[in-house]
Amino acid sequence: MNNQELMHGKVKTLYDTGDAEKVLIKYEDKVTAFDGKMVDYPDGKGKVCCLISALLFEKLSAAGIRTHYLDLPSLNTMLCRRLTIVPVEVICRNIAAGSLVKNTDGLKEGQLLQPPIVEFFLKDDAKGDPLLTEDRVRLMGVDPEPLKEQALMVNGQLQVLFTLLGFDLVDFKLEFGYDGHGDLYLADELSPDSMRLWKKGTQERFDKDLFRKDEGDIVTAYKHILTQLRQFA
Ligand code: C5P
Repeated sequence: MNNQELMHGKVKTLYDTGDAEKVLIKYEDKVTAFDGKMVDYPDGKGKVCCLISALLFEKLSAAGIRTHYLDLPSLNTMLCRRLTIVPVEVICRNIAAGSLVKNTDGLKEGQLLQPPIVEFFLKDDAKGDPLLTEDRVRLMGVDPEPLKEQALMVNGQLQVLFTLLGFDLVDFKLEFGYDGHGDLYLADELSPDSMRLWKKGTQERFDKDLFRKDEGDIVTAYKHILTQLRQFA
């Protein structure tokens, strides 16, 4: 790409477009876990994550949720609104798994969380992305309420969609950002790289845990999700 590189993330690269309000986000053929300690470069991974994200952002936009997604100029690159990203990772959980089970007591993996819970983590790899309290989020100058409200709206939409496709939406991570007018938008990506998806009623994984636990090929699993989404969404 000839555009000027603005930022190099772990698995995505941001490019200038010449328009101050828009950026290009290229999804790389790369996967990382455990703060970058595990890395691999699976062929086709950028494309499948980009296509799933585009489809899900389109679904959410149609439901009235503001997202940064604007267009898909190529199969692994999306045109997005330029935002100032809130340095808080918002995690919504419907079923207990991952760090929730690891860092609490008495919760079993697979246990239903009703109502769903929303958690906040600091977006800072160097500090190990620690869990935040709502008070700490406020002390950072960020109002947690709209983040929580949007996360639950996204959860409602995605749960309906994935249930239709025969998957349990276990949990997912969202990032948000503000545009130049101070409006909040859903940012980053929405793919099995940032969510847990289990085949309905089982704990068969179709997400990044396959890579984290070395239990299977993520690109095959992600392509299965994309095919299902294209058929039914
Ligand atoms: O690790 P944990 O259980 O807290 O992750 C919850 C969800 O958020 C998982 O779907 C995971 O893939 C996602 N996540 C992410 N990026 C992070 C942390 C978590 O996409 N930095």
